[in-house]
Amino acid sequence: MVDPAHYEVRYRINPWMQPEQWMRDAQGLRAAARRAYDALRCALREAGCDVVVADGAPGLPDMVFPANAGIILDGRALLARFRYPQRRGEEAAFLAVFEQLREQGLLKEIARFPPGCFQEGAGDAIWDVNRRCFWAAYGPRSARESLAHIADFFDQEVVPLELASERCYHLDVCFCPLSGGEILYYPPALTRPALRRLRERVPVDMLLAASDEDLGRFSVNAVNVGRRIVMAAPTPRLGSMLRERGYSVIPVDLEPFKMSGGGAYCMTLRLDRSSLPAVAARVGDREAAWA
Ligand code: ARG
Repeated sequence: MVDPAHYEVRYRINPWMQPEQWMRDAQGLRAAARRAYDALRCALREAGCDVVVADGAPGLPDMVFPANAGIILDGRALLARFRYPQRRGEEAAFLAVFEQLREQGLLKEIARFPPGCFQEGAGDAIWDVNRRCFWAAYGPRSARESLAHIADFFDQEVVPLELASERCYHLDVCFCPLSGGEILYYPPALTRPALRRLRERVPVDMLLAASDEDLGRFSVNAVNVGRRIVMAAPTPRLGSMLRERGYSVIPVDLEPFKMSGGGAYCMTLRLDRSSLPAVAARVGDREAAWA
């Protein structure tokens, strides 16, 4: 996670961002953001995560969303290239964070996309533990060409999904693979070919459709660890759908981050993803996974 000391909503690069509303009570919202961040950190610990916190940087308010910093698998990191100039300063800042993680033994390799090849990290490339592939989006933020680089660097299958609207500007806003093999997703977010590709690979009883309201609450942007799911408080319908599948939801109030278009998943970047089959890749087996 990244400490929210420099978080604010100052510009608008996605339709959820509300700089005017932020300005009306910047001080109050900053305090609320700190509380929401602390609550998320506690919820992640409750879910069994070890949380490493990096510092943010002044002038880079969206650093608080490290899911966009890069893609990490088996301790190997591919650093993001941001579409909008407002976030480009994060590339150098996150490179420094990744280098620190390497010194701590939490990463072993850092690579970059070629110049001009936009890709916004794990927000647009989500590892599916069960199918052992990346679901990778292109459209509003990441470029179609980025997908070949992801496949090359990680030597893994990459399933391309084109995003259909600016509302779902990153894949993680509308798409969340779960540990039991289900995929929680918001169907209107994907283009027809993308939906077809998804349905070819995932049986219909494993596809859990999120509603407009689920999307609006940013619940789909969730962190799933084993049978626990940390998410912005779900609608009763989504909550019971997940319980029926054997998950327990740990709800968090992330309202101040929703004002920037973010939820639980994008406030994290997982360092523990492994390409080994799910059983061998339990959290804590990272060393073994890299060996
Ligand atoms: N304001 C940020 C942006 O528009 C929010 C990023 C949220 N990240 C995510 N992976 N959904 O870039």
